[in-house]
Amino acid sequence: MMRDQMCGELRRNDIDKNITLAGWVLNRRDHGGVVFIDLRDRSGAVQIVADPETPKPFAVAEQVRNEFVLQVRGRVRRRPDGTDNPDLSTGEIEVVAEHIELLARAEPLPFQLDDDDISEPVRLKYRFLDLRRPTMQSALRLRHRLIAAIRAFLDAHEFVDIETPMLTRSTPEGARDYLVPSRTHGGQFFALPQSPQLFKQLLMVGGFERYYQIARCFRDEDLRADRQPEFTQLDVEMSFVDENAVMDLMENMVREVFDKIAQVSLPDPIPRMTHAEAMARYGSDRPDLRIALELSELTDVMRAVEFKVFAAPAADSEGRVAALCVPGGGELSRAQIDDYTEFVKQFGAGGLAYIKVNDPSGREGLQSPILKFLPDETIAAVLARTHAAAGDLIFFGADKAAIVNDTLGALRLKLGEDLGLVEDAWKPLWVVDFPLMAWDTDAKRWQSLHHPFTAPRDDHIELLTTEPDKVLSRAYDLVLNGSEIGGGSIRIHNADIQRQVLAALGIDAKQAQSEFGFLLDALQYGAPPHGGIAFGIDRLTALLTAADSIRDVIAFPKTQKAACLLTDAPSEVGAGQLRELGLKVGGKK
Ligand code: AMO
Ligand code: AMP
Repeated sequence: MMRDQMCGELRRNDIDKNITLAGWVLNRRDHGGVVFIDLRDRSGAVQIVADPETPKPFAVAEQVRNEFVLQVRGRVRRRPDGTDNPDLSTGEIEVVAEHIELLARAEPLPFQLDDDDISEPVRLKYRFLDLRRPTMQSALRLRHRLIAAIRAFLDAHEFVDIETPMLTRSTPEGARDYLVPSRTHGGQFFALPQSPQLFKQLLMVGGFERYYQIARCFRDEDLRADRQPEFTQLDVEMSFVDENAVMDLMENMVREVFDKIAQVSLPDPIPRMTHAEAMARYGSDRPDLRIALELSELTDVMRAVEFKVFAAPAADSEGRVAALCVPGGGELSRAQIDDYTEFVKQFGAGGLAYIKVNDPSGREGLQSPILKFLPDETIAAVLARTHAAAGDLIFFGADKAAIVNDTLGALRLKLGEDLGLVEDAWKPLWVVDFPLMAWDTDAKRWQSLHHPFTAPRDDHIELLTTEPDKVLSRAYDLVLNGSEIGGGSIRIHNADIQRQVLAALGIDAKQAQSEFGFLLDALQYGAPPHGGIAFGIDRLTALLTAADSIRDVIAFPKTQKAACLLTDAPSEVGAGQLRELGLKVGGKK
């Protein structure tokens, strides 16, 4: 037998037992003739003692280095008085080595496993070593428990786990596709799925009623801390449901799973907010409710002022003027305000007007370069709407509504962090009543806010051709502490309505038939009303482990530039392989 005990599980009641352990050398210390080795396996570490009086194991112990792999046979004994190690769960005992077998040597490591300052590229290149570190071990173990708890919940609710293809057609979730050339169909390509969306809908047409899958999704998009080119969803679909049925069941699942694996109790019910309210109050469709700061609407107030910076956007039908009042912000220095002004420029803001409030009773108590442009009643309205108090600072955003929302939404988060205003709490929120589509100014066409299979509200279908921007959808997102952890919708289950929505998105009948013909067909053969949701497993795990990036909860992630430093992928391929695929490579872009 390779081993009969786990290192980290040995306790005082094991004293005098003869045991066999196997694991890695966490460290080795020479103490005047006696060698101490901390031996680590997945359960933890225990101290091994090799004494010169037992020469054979001692000789092996003398030559081991960190991360050598050993098998150790020995006897458990109480540590001598005063040598207990309270930092170690096994700190009251040690194992006197009677035999040490060297199972594998290790070269000196490129980094020390207990060094918290290792650069990420090095960690990713030697991921197999990085994974030995306790943070990575516990993150991936928690990820496993999360998925196991989800499966247990869904199994108990009669969901069926069904796999869907990886080699498929393009599924429009709004990102670029990863393409796979077909050898057997020269010149043609598969797309890796951006999500199992269409297949799960077909499974509903196929009569399964309750489906789920822990599914890998592929999206070639600009990466961030919470975005990977391949990531994992819990993908769910249900038949004969409305949005309340989906949201109720799914929030029960999330509550139960959080409680079970992390002893986190989430509110019951999880609050809901319309998309319009979220944008108005937080400038974001995924507001972080741990920060109490809110935007105040000033568009109506600024319409009549002479100050063009405010008046022009206030008069623009797509414009917005809003304020963010920062409690205690009066303490901010000129330099800090300049930094925030620079910060908001990346979101397209032209500037960041502000008013310092020394005394909120009127103009005399205020300080700001823009005061002279604002009449008394406007100032009174600003103070009233923002509920400004002495010592506060009011920031202003004035521009196209999208820019004001991005600007003040991001500023709100940054101020929350900088000023320590982020409450230590779990704040989930359902965002509902999303618009079905939004005008994409770059592409000059309407784009789905979710995806083209999201149902419009029944009473808004007529607006599809007349006022597309007014159409609300039956979509819902689950947001947790400012992170979008899940999103879904009730789907269109009627082929005609699906065609109308595709047409509103600028997809004509011919294109619709060639790209989504299989779906439109399926919807003609008795499609049940259905809906579902997908959760980001990586994001959920990152939240539960307080990781800065989802890369820290994925065993083998890609870099920000979508490369794998471990395997050096992507890579060039041989001429023969290209020829077989009928491909010619034009060289680097
Ligand atoms: P959506 O595109 O909103 O919906 O994705 C669902 C959830 O997946 C997570 N997510 C990501 N996580 C890491 N890296 C990414 N690049 C990434 N993109 C998305 C987010 C998000 O909330 N088919 C629909 C779901 C449905 O309608 O049922 C879909 O994929 O947490
Ligand atoms: P200006 O008249 O350009 O000097 O701007 C006066 C003040 O308004 C300065 O504090 C600017 O930072 C601010 N400002 C300019 N443009 C905007 C804008 N779009 N939104 C908010 N504040 C702005």
